[in-house]
Amino acid sequence: MRIVIVGSGKMGRAVAALAEQRGHTVHALIGSAENASGSALTAERLRGADVAVEFTRPEAAAANVTRLVAAGVPVVCGTTGWEAERAEVTALVERSDGALLHAANFSVGVHLFLRAARQLARELAGRSEFDAFILEEHHAAKRDAPSGTARVLRGLVAGADPAREFPITSIRAGATPGTHMLAYDGTHERIALSHMARSRSGFAAGALAAAEWLPGHRGVYTFEDMLFGEPG
Ligand SMILES: NC(=O)c1ccc[n+]([C@@H]2O[C@H](COP(=O)([O-])OP(=O)(O)OC[C@H]3O[C@@H](n4cnc5c(N)ncnc54)[C@H](OP(=O)(O)O)[C@@H]3O)[C@@H](O)[C@H]2O)c1
Repeated sequence: MRIVIVGSGKMGRAVAALAEQRGHTVHALIGSAENASGSALTAERLRGADVAVEFTRPEAAAANVTRLVAAGVPVVCGTTGWEAERAEVTALVERSDGALLHAANFSVGVHLFLRAARQLARELAGRSEFDAFILEEHHAAKRDAPSGTARVLRGLVAGADPAREFPITSIRAGATPGTHMLAYDGTHERIALSHMARSRSGFAAGALAAAEWLPGHRGVYTFEDMLFGEPG
């Protein structure tokens, strides 16, 4: 496949390296200097690309995805923190018969963790002897807090147990690529479920798997749709 990578930061470079290892061609690796408001994402520059992978910054993602979809390129987007613009971009993808797969977290283990967390929340619904909380830790350079994954986690567990509060604490320090914990703390005991990413490689592998899957699909998908079956 010919893959356009938008964003030449830590994730963009990790996806580019893995794509080449897996025999794909990096059609273009587009950094911020040439791409204010998505201006580098022209039909000419994108011609021949099968799919794009976007890992930039919250303030840049919506413009990039919009330009890629307008050019008819399926987009895998891993950028977090642009929820406010998501509905508008989703409507555009649907109107233009495009394809977008967005995930706040491309680790397969995280999605299994999220399913287990929802199950734990169901089991503990109504158990007032426990207080619940979510703790997430990321490296010092991560811009958004809480993380996209922590917000997804809170949405899932709150859906499973609407009567309970799930406050999130975010730590931004050091170099950790991403740790999430859901804990239930009581007077005598604690129940905790956690996921720890050891490196960015798992995110890059998941994003590349999504890029291999998306062409040929139409509409808006999550990584969960790809892993566990598309919504009916
Ligand atoms: N979904 C997942 O699994 C996952 C995993 C890890 C990270 N993330 C998210 O992915 C995003 C990127 O993470 P990262 O670790 O790669 O961050 P990073 O190292 O800071 O890289 C972001 C890159 O995007 C560039 N950029 C900003 N605006 C741009 C534009 N308009 N066009 C092209 N490039 C642009 C930045 O360039 P300048 O430095 O020149 O501004 C920077 O090189 C973040 O939102 C992060 O939260 C998601």
